[in-house]
Amino acid sequence: MTLPIATPSPMPSSPASPGLAAAGSSTPQAPGTMAPNRPQLSEALFHKFATLIYELSGMRFELNKSYFIASKIDLRVQALGLKGFEAYYTYLESPSGRAEYGFLIDEITINETFFFRHEPQLQAFRDEILMPLVFARRAQRQMRFRILSAASSTGDELYTIALMLKDMGLVGKDITFELVGTDICHDALEKARAGVYRKYNIRNVPPSLLNLYFEHSPGASATNIGSESWTLKPEIKQMCRFMEGNLMDTVRTQALGKFDIIFCRNVLIYFDEISKEKVVRNLAGLLNDDGYVLLGHSENIYSQRHILRPDKVHTNAIAYTKAPPGTPKL
Ligand SMILES: C[S@@+](CC[C@H](N)C(=O)[O-])C[C@H]1O[C@@H](n2cnc3c(N)ncnc32)[C@H](O)[C@@H]1O
Repeated sequence: MTLPIATPSPMPSSPASPGLAAAGSSTPQAPGTMAPNRPQLSEALFHKFATLIYELSGMRFELNKSYFIASKIDLRVQALGLKGFEAYYTYLESPSGRAEYGFLIDEITINETFFFRHEPQLQAFRDEILMPLVFARRAQRQMRFRILSAASSTGDELYTIALMLKDMGLVGKDITFELVGTDICHDALEKARAGVYRKYNIRNVPPSLLNLYFEHSPGASATNIGSESWTLKPEIKQMCRFMEGNLMDTVRTQALGKFDIIFCRNVLIYFDEISKEKVVRNLAGLLNDDGYVLLGHSENIYSQRHILRPDKVHTNAIAYTKAPPGTPKL
């Protein structure tokens, strides 16, 4: 089941009422320690939250992630001024609780990403995957080339592709590139659209591209207002479109149309085999017949090779293509 997730709209976060917020959600601290109260989640309640998160997103959290889940949902408990985890779960179950789903998922998602994240794969993408496909499109007189960053987080991956296309001199020529990023996390999408990054995110961007396509703001460290940032120039931002997308949602995913290359990196790791199979099927449905899917380098979809199977071996990268229809599951 994939539940619809309402888009979070700005909501005033009510400060926790004294005497209400912490009740039932914290453990006592050892005397004399400075550590903040650590919220504790009972095993039964953890499973309820984990099941809801799974139904909403396909992400599977086991009991050993209880502290992580507790610390994240505690932020929502505080923001809403509720008594504790039990009250939050009751709210989520209530008719008005649906409006909260997006906020919950925004807290739970792990948005770690950065520009030029895996150089060997990007080299293979550029030389062995993209260019042969571009030549094929020219020969077919297909002048539109679509690339998807599925689970795009704050946009670093999609903008990396845009920078590479610019650098290769492919932009503004015969083929029109359409770059789309989707993610379940609204907060990450907002950041992607803003295109403002910290040093951590841009540290792998080649200096020539950094100078050409980013506006550097040193931040006002003397007055302690703002911090150093790099803002993408409009010519790069305009190449990319970001939209909400749950990889588990077949109907809305397929409405995105077909793509020539799909990046789906570092998200399948959060899914169990059942959600993974559904996502892989959705990705295959989005792929042109001769298109490619690229995963994170530590991910594998071996059990789903009846849907997407590894193409010929590329240097330092595995690209997946659609398995022929009727391929049996092994
Ligand atoms: C670790 S980031 C990966 C970002 C980027 N692909 C990369 O490799 O640098 C994982 C992203 O997956 C997103 N995500 C998790 N579940 C999702 C789902 N069901 N549909 C779409 N995005 C999802 C999260 O919001 C998060 O931004």
